[in-house]
Amino acid sequence: MNNFNFYSPTYFVFGKDTENKAGKYVKRFGGSKVLIHYGGGSVVRSGLLDRVKESLKSEGIDFVELGGVMPNPRSGLVYEGIELCRKEAVDFVLAVGGGSSIDSAKAIAVGVKYDGDFWDFYEGKPIREALPVGTILTIAAAGSEGSGDSVITKEEGMLKRGTGGEAMRPVFSILNPELTQTLPAYQTACGATDIMAHVFERYFTNTKEVEITDRLCEAVLLTMIKETPRVIADPNNYEARANIMWAGMVAHNNLVGVGRDQDWSSHNIEHELSALYDVAHGAGLAVIFPAWMTYVMKQDINRFAQIAVRVWGCNMNFANPEETAKEGIERLKQFLTSIGMPISFKDLGAKEEDIPLMVEKLGLGDNGTMGSFVPLTSKDVDQIYRLAL
Ligand code: NZQ
Ligand code: ZN
Repeated sequence: MNNFNFYSPTYFVFGKDTENKAGKYVKRFGGSKVLIHYGGGSVVRSGLLDRVKESLKSEGIDFVELGGVMPNPRSGLVYEGIELCRKEAVDFVLAVGGGSSIDSAKAIAVGVKYDGDFWDFYEGKPIREALPVGTILTIAAAGSEGSGDSVITKEEGMLKRGTGGEAMRPVFSILNPELTQTLPAYQTACGATDIMAHVFERYFTNTKEVEITDRLCEAVLLTMIKETPRVIADPNNYEARANIMWAGMVAHNNLVGVGRDQDWSSHNIEHELSALYDVAHGAGLAVIFPAWMTYVMKQDINRFAQIAVRVWGCNMNFANPEETAKEGIERLKQFLTSIGMPISFKDLGAKEEDIPLMVEKLGLGDNGTMGSFVPLTSKDVDQIYRLAL
């Protein structure tokens, strides 16, 4: 196991009706003038936004609002949010929605404290400070409610880039599984795929002797395999929604990833798909992950056979572990298909002729690599996209 530091100080408030405590927690974490930041309208239609406003009012907290965050959130609204916060002397950003609203809120929170262009942070500038961010989560997926990460798309060139910094980790996150019951089945499945992908990015490692995090990863995956079909069959199944919501947080606040090298190539490869076609991140991952696994499997057949046996319930073929490994990938594809996810470019509506452009936009050039399980060159990424056709 590698040395590590783990500090994950978000205060989680989990369960029914917890959104009504938003005002109390904003106050506890020092907010007196709030920007409420949300998406395309689901929180308006569900009445959640009104309940949050009531909660702030009941604590005497002043607020301004900025809605309109799109899935794969754009830089344009971030600039607007930064300006609004400065004009209104906002000292706390409250995201109400999914990963997109939360990531946009984090970008605004960082941008307000910085004289230059907030995009500098998405090009590698280290993050030092931000306004405090709180979240009220409405979809279990990105894990942004417990992470210090944010992913934004710059309209110019449709560049989708991520950044991370402790200052962006939410100070509190309110997780009420009931709020996810209005999700369409497709969005639920996209979220479930993303949660599983966050585990895969950590599970496939060259670091040895990481049994504890292997087992935690497997627990999250087994939970998702059990609970996802239940919520797709019955969107109002509170208990299944609750398990998935917590799994989404656990999968990405790095509890299951500490002490090991992590890969993250598939996320970068996917980001080019969602940037180009504006598809849901989870749907893009459903297409990329099986292809990536097939391409890199030989790096550690035993690890792939291990997940096949422990998570997918395959029988170990001791004479030929590669067969077991392949069966595990096949089971993953079957699972993704069963929950309504695309597993190919064709399913997703992506085009073969765009592969060179996506490879180029990844910026690896002739000699660069990305990922740690198997460092991938531009040529490798091209092959992975083609395996996903
Ligand atoms: O915009 P509204 O109207 O709210 O609708 C959203 C949106 O259309 C809808 N939705 C959310 N909650 C709902 C609901 N509809 C009905 N009822 C509800 N309760 O669902 C759609 C998707 O929302 P979005 O916020 O985009 O989903 P998600 O949480 O999957 O976030 C995706 C973004 O997060 C990034 C992705 O790249 C993508 O841009 N990621 C962020 C990460 C992080 N910050 O740590 C890590 C992830 O790997 C990921 O890259
Ligand atoms: Zn993700």
